Amino acid sequence: MNVKKYYIETYGCQMNEADSELIAGMLEEFSCRSVDKPGEADVILVNTCTVRENAERRAISRLDQFKSLKKKNPDLILGLLGCVAQRDRGKIISEKPFIDLILGPDSYKHLPEIFNGRKFPLVNVKLSKTEVYEGVTPYRRSKVNAWISIMRGCDKFCSYCIVPYTRGRERSRSIKSIVNEAKKAVGDGYKELTLLGQNVNSYRYENYKFPDLLEAVSNVKEVKRIRFTSPHPNDIDDRMLEVMRDHQNICKHIHLPLQSGSSRVLNLMNRGYDQEKYLSVVKKIRTCLSDVAITTDIIVGFPGETEENFLETLNVMDKVVFDSAFMFKYSPRPGTKASLMKDDVSEDEKADRLTRVIEKQREHTLIRNSAFVGSIQEVLIEDLSKKDPNEKMGRTETNKVVIIKKGDAEIGDLVKVNIEKAVGVSLFGEIV
Ligand code: 5AD
Ligand code: SF4
Repeated sequence: MNVKKYYIETYGCQMNEADSELIAGMLEEFSCRSVDKPGEADVILVNTCTVRENAERRAISRLDQFKSLKKKNPDLILGLLGCVAQRDRGKIISEKPFIDLILGPDSYKHLPEIFNGRKFPLVNVKLSKTEVYEGVTPYRRSKVNAWISIMRGCDKFCSYCIVPYTRGRERSRSIKSIVNEAKKAVGDGYKELTLLGQNVNSYRYENYKFPDLLEAVSNVKEVKRIRFTSPHPNDIDDRMLEVMRDHQNICKHIHLPLQSGSSRVLNLMNRGYDQEKYLSVVKKIRTCLSDVAITTDIIVGFPGETEENFLETLNVMDKVVFDSAFMFKYSPRPGTKASLMKDDVSEDEKADRLTRVIEKQREHTLIRNSAFVGSIQEVLIEDLSKKDPNEKMGRTETNKVVIIKKGDAEIGDLVKVNIEKAVGVSLFGEIV
């Protein structure tokens, strides 16, 4: 068989990044080779996200751009993968007949059929109750961090969220296969493992729950750092925190999506907790893990969110002082419960509220980061600094970006850094 060259572009969450590595793994098995430029590829795949409208628009416009490459290479196979494929296949098939391949998140095992003389377009968007891509070896992009997908899908049905419709029901991989993948990644030289799932701490396999899995992975020999994302506040229990406390290689960072500080809005969002419960989870985390970093996601302008409701979000931010946050304007997703509610917060008001949460978060990030100045932190070197290739970029255990001006270190090294200043969202320092 001729060696085919493939190019994958990925949008959206880390689950999508991890899926792209599984897809690449399957293609490598078929003697395909990855290329960095779409113009050189025989197969171009766009792994898409539909969580907000602009993410979806960006991914689709890339496909239109790649269409022109087909003029030069009529045999080029152009594929749409991921959450947009799952949701909009009908529309895409009729509006973009130049697309050869449409596969949803549970259908990637059909990918090799493109080499078996299958007729195009090849379309499969069947959601599965069991598919976890057991036995597929990911082809990893990073040399430092290995994504390990431990569960797929979501059963929470937050009213704004498209994920349960594009990724289907929750299902978990066996603890044994996850531990084996962790061992293999460590053997391959990965210093950091990140356990991934749409609701990572809803993991359940036979009698094993998330804390059991966390402990099992943490006990793999030579694992330097373990991260996980994203947990749901309702599924955080004492045992998870105790396992984190008792295992030095589990990073002391929890991403704890707040979404809104208003109990009324949280109820409309179907988040399953109110302001008081969220704050009690934060308190429990900080009691058990003294130096933990807590980060979050916030949505502004949900249907019916009044100025008073929004002030509650600012109020919770003031109480928690998050280390960092991803902040979004509400974007109605057709098919979700919230899309049936009146999107009644004006665009101007959403933009204004977003500016205000960003401003507050900027202050809080600086407060949290400044507390590190003067301390010595262990930093895992991930890359060269984007601004200056003579400088290196790494992260602390608490997931803070550190720019290192001086000192010898290779990518993948764990080094001690004297933190000298905090500017913007980064820390700066020198290796000691
Ligand atoms: N509009 C805006 N933000 C959204 N998110 C999920 N769905 C929407 C939506 N419809 C945000 C949530 C989630 C993050 C991944 O994306 O904050 O935690
Ligand atoms: Fe985007 Fe959500 Fe799909 Fe991830 S699961 S790619 S965030 S729509």
